[in-house]
Amino acid sequence: MSNKYTVKKIEKKKDYLSISWNDNFKSKFHFLWLRDNCPTAIHPTANMRVFNILNVSKNIFPKKINIKKNNLNIDWSEGNHKSNFRLKWLRDHCYTEINKQKYKSPYKFWNGNLKKNFSKIILNHDKIIKNDKHLKKWLELLHSYGFAIVKNSPTKKKSGFRVLNRISHHRETFFGTPFEVINIPKPNNTAYTAQALRNHTDLPYFEYAPGYQFLHCLVNNASGGNSSVVDGFAVANYLKKNEKDVYKLLTRTYVKFKDTDYTQKSIRVLHSPIITLTRENDFNDVRFSMAAMGTIDVDPKKMKRFYDAYQYFASLLQNNKFKIDFRLEAGDIFCFNNRRVLHGRTEFDPNSGNRHLQGYYIERDEIIARLNYFNKLKI
Ligand SMILES: [Fe+2]
Repeated sequence: MSNKYTVKKIEKKKDYLSISWNDNFKSKFHFLWLRDNCPTAIHPTANMRVFNILNVSKNIFPKKINIKKNNLNIDWSEGNHKSNFRLKWLRDHCYTEINKQKYKSPYKFWNGNLKKNFSKIILNHDKIIKNDKHLKKWLELLHSYGFAIVKNSPTKKKSGFRVLNRISHHRETFFGTPFEVINIPKPNNTAYTAQALRNHTDLPYFEYAPGYQFLHCLVNNASGGNSSVVDGFAVANYLKKNEKDVYKLLTRTYVKFKDTDYTQKSIRVLHSPIITLTRENDFNDVRFSMAAMGTIDVDPKKMKRFYDAYQYFASLLQNNKFKIDFRLEAGDIFCFNNRRVLHGRTEFDPNSGNRHLQGYYIERDEIIARLNYFNKLKI
């Protein structure tokens, strides 16, 4: 046992146990927390808590404590109950230590220079299918860069499910799965035209916009229709560092996103800042789509400043310093974090050839949860 997991001294305080470890770290473990986390509180196979916090009083305390063979034993004042904790478990779940740790963002920002290292974000379809090591690498890229391209996939319709299901199930939307990115007559979405699409995130009018999008290219031999991709978090981070007022406006102003697609009997409206943050002040998501922006209804005192900030952000999202232009080939699956990375395309000529992508959504939760599984995350 390393020093970290052995105890130098244990003391009973008013409402917690104080443990000094042999690496000189000092932890607090509150009585109710200990009782709530007694190993018997957890169902052995369901791994869910069966203990009811209402079955003890807030005054519960350890009548007797002792440390024996890397275990802490407690006799409780209520319910004639005994707990036996492994010291390693206690230290690994020490919330004194957890709360002292500095937050480390999982995101690696990138800009137009990534184009020179494009091979970094490229994976092979069959390797992901056959080997968990490659699957894990894919998940890591998706989580850190928010962008990857899976090459040499089959080009059969709906075959994207196979690689997606290596992660988990898909997220369904009113577009259906997969959705067909192809030009159609009387389109209900500009994606279903041959027109250029400015860099955007999909479905920003959903309270919970789909976490990831996989665009599976089945055929792309029309002229035009090149793709673009930009790291919204990197652009947001640039604003945070260099344009504080713009950043403040985009993180604090609630703007209207909407969808009134004529094929649906629904009117979708959501007010949200364009950039949202997590409790650690890291980036949570970027919502940006000129196409899906509603009629902006911010306070007149703020409107001019908001529009200046919005226009500036839009210009950076199209700027070569940040964005990457590339061409999807048949068999490519363009995968990106739809709540971070924006995508677009140039206009294409539907009379010059065919361009057909099939799109899938999958939640960010699924990517992270699967990665946690491979990383054997301690919880
Ligand atoms: Fe899109």
